[in-house]
Amino acid sequence: MYRTHTCGELRLTHIGSTATLCGWVQRVRNLGAMTFIDLRDRYGITQILIDDQCPAHIGQQAQALGREFVVQVEGEVLERASKNPKLPTGEVEVRAQRIAVLNAAELPPFTIEDDTDGGDELRMRYRYLDLRRNPVKNALLLRHNMAQEVRRYLGQQQFVEVETPFLIGSTPEGARDFVVPSRLHHGQFYALPQSPQTFKQLLMVGGFDRYFQIVKCFRDEDLRADRQPEFTQIDCEMSFVERDDVLQIFEGLIKHLFRFVLGVDLGDQPMRHLPYPEAMRLYGSDKPDLRFGMEFVELTQLAQGHGFGVFDSAELVVGICAKGCAGYTRKQIDELTDFVKRPQVGASGLVYIRHNDDGSFKSSIDKFLGPNDLAAMGQAMGSAPGDLMLIMAGPRRKTQQALCELRLEMGSRLGLRRKDAFAPLWVVDFPLLEWSEEEQRYFAMHHPFTSPHPDDVGLFGTDPGAIRANAYDMVINGVEVGGGSIRIHDSQLQQTMFSTLGFSAEEAQRQFGFLLNAFRYGAPPHGGIAFGFDRLCSLFGGADSIRDYIAFPKNNAAKDVMIDAPGPLRPEQLDELHIDLRPEQQV
Ligand code: AMO
Repeated sequence: MYRTHTCGELRLTHIGSTATLCGWVQRVRNLGAMTFIDLRDRYGITQILIDDQCPAHIGQQAQALGREFVVQVEGEVLERASKNPKLPTGEVEVRAQRIAVLNAAELPPFTIEDDTDGGDELRMRYRYLDLRRNPVKNALLLRHNMAQEVRRYLGQQQFVEVETPFLIGSTPEGARDFVVPSRLHHGQFYALPQSPQTFKQLLMVGGFDRYFQIVKCFRDEDLRADRQPEFTQIDCEMSFVERDDVLQIFEGLIKHLFRFVLGVDLGDQPMRHLPYPEAMRLYGSDKPDLRFGMEFVELTQLAQGHGFGVFDSAELVVGICAKGCAGYTRKQIDELTDFVKRPQVGASGLVYIRHNDDGSFKSSIDKFLGPNDLAAMGQAMGSAPGDLMLIMAGPRRKTQQALCELRLEMGSRLGLRRKDAFAPLWVVDFPLLEWSEEEQRYFAMHHPFTSPHPDDVGLFGTDPGAIRANAYDMVINGVEVGGGSIRIHDSQLQQTMFSTLGFSAEEAQRQFGFLLNAFRYGAPPHGGIAFGFDRLCSLFGGADSIRDYIAFPKNNAAKDVMIDAPGPLRPEQLDELHIDLRPEQQV
């Protein structure tokens, strides 16, 4: 062993003993008579002292040390004269008797400090150096704790961890697949799984009534702060369960994680169930942030018929009431208007009504709506003197989305979205199908194996768009952390679903025959869920991006800039795969 102790563990109780430490040189401070080295490893930092009581050559050795050199130091543990209360090891130091350089290091391209001078791109390129920094290291330690606790809880509940394959076939639904050419089968391709969905269902047919896996999933979709092309799910499935059984077990998992990873008690109350239509009506989103209220109020009827064209022609007029914001200046209101007009938000404008302290109203559309009309709106929105009402109008869906963004922006501005507050809920009763105008067909809103709500099965022949799914998402603080459903386990119903999605019987058989066949051999009723593990970790860590919770993430362009992937293949490799590139693609 190179070391007797880590750099994070020495305390006053070690005084007088000899310790051998290994780590990286964070900093060397030469104060003339004394030199200090901050020695860092995964566990912390210990101060190394070099003074006139050390062997003479050690002082010189210390001068030659550069940042991030890997060294071994042996010496006596002493009580520090001036203690550092910020460090757990701040009461002690080690007087070096021997220093061995285990490896020299080039000057790192950015400082390995909590507040580094390295930009995003640089830190990603040298991710192995970034991993030495506390914020990134702690994020990965949190992730580790989460995984341990997931296994502990699910293990206690009789879930069995089973691995499923990564080289599978491409399926037509969902996001775009990442594909892998087959060398042995020319012109044929594997696809990487977007999730182990069909395999976990087959495991249920195989009698493993409680399955889970912490598993990589691959989706070739546009990236955002909470999306990576390869990400991790806590994937779970259960047999002989109904919706509420699944919700109860996995509410339990999330409460367990909050308790044992964060020390936060979410209480014994079941989480709120919010039907999808309510979520859209009140928050304009299927993943509402319930850390604050500011619910939508529909104003279409009150707003129309006053000669204001924008309102009169709108499918929906809807507003929110921002408490205590009537004092917003012209500039602040203009900022909000600019915010909603940004392409990501996509609104054409914003109407405001101030509920003044004297009880009167002032709005940007005074020309059209008189005091009584404004008062009626104020009443509908439950405004009080001092409040500011913000109103949007337009096509229903688009307007809801835009107002949802504005609500979140107002929540942030008013400090209502605290990182240490958690508002979990289940969104239930999603529509089973979504109509695509472009393709003139229905798509499964979740996936094609999602069971319809038992009361709605009869609607397949008459009104498929009205069928509710027996599906559920868990949402915390506006983040969809997990989603799942009760599955179709009857091959007849599964066929009906496929034909509603526009698959011919042959196509369904070709794409999903393995599942349909399996269902003929005694499929138990089953259902499950998958949590976005990276998202859960970043939520627990109070971060907005999942990247820091992934050891080696991709950047916004889906590239790994450290290993420079994706990259070209050698001509021999392409030959072996029988792949010809177009001339313009050849490098
Ligand atoms: P779904 O597609 O909803 O369901 O995915 C489950 C959860 O995975 C997370 N997630 C992502 N996280 C990071 N990057 C991504 N690109 C990404 N995409 C999804 C989300 C999401 O809630 N097989 C079904 C689950 C089931 O029905 O049991 C599935 O994959 O947090």
